[in-house]
Amino acid sequence: MAFVVTDNCILCKYTDCVAVCPADAFYEGPNFLVINPDECIDCDLCPIECPAEAIYQEDEVPKDQQEFIELNAELSKQWPRITEIKPPLPDAKKWDGVVEKVKYLDTDVD
Ligand code: SF4
Ligand code: F3S
Repeated sequence: MAFVVTDNCILCKYTDCVAVCPADAFYEGPNFLVINPDECIDCDLCPIECPAEAIYQEDEVPKDQQEFIELNAELSKQWPRITEIKPPLPDAKKWDGVVEKVKYLDTDVD
C-alpha cells in the first residue's frame, strides 16, 4: 500500500508534503508531484500537510481519480526526486479546488 497524489495538486504544487516524508518518496514534475509507491512506507504523515488535501491512501483514492494511482507509479520513474520544500506555483491559490485539472498535467521531464 502507498499514498497517492491526486488532481488537486496540479497547478498548486505547495510541496509541504516533501518536508515530512521520511522516505524521500516524492518526485517533481513541472506542475505536479507524485509519490513512488515502491518507496512510500505508508507512514501517513503527508496527507495532513497538504494544503490542497490532494494526498490519499491508495485504497481511499476517490473513484473518479483512480487514474492517479498509475500516474504516480509511472511519473515517479521519470521525474527527479524532490527532498526540500519550495514556493508553490504562482497561481496556486487560484487553482486550489478547481476540479478535473488532470487535463493541465504537464508530464515533461525538466
Ligand atoms: Fe512519504 Fe509517509 Fe507520505 Fe509515504 S505516507 S509519501 S512515506 S510522508
Ligand atoms: Fe501537491 Fe499538496 Fe504536496 S499540493 S506538492 S501534494 S503539499
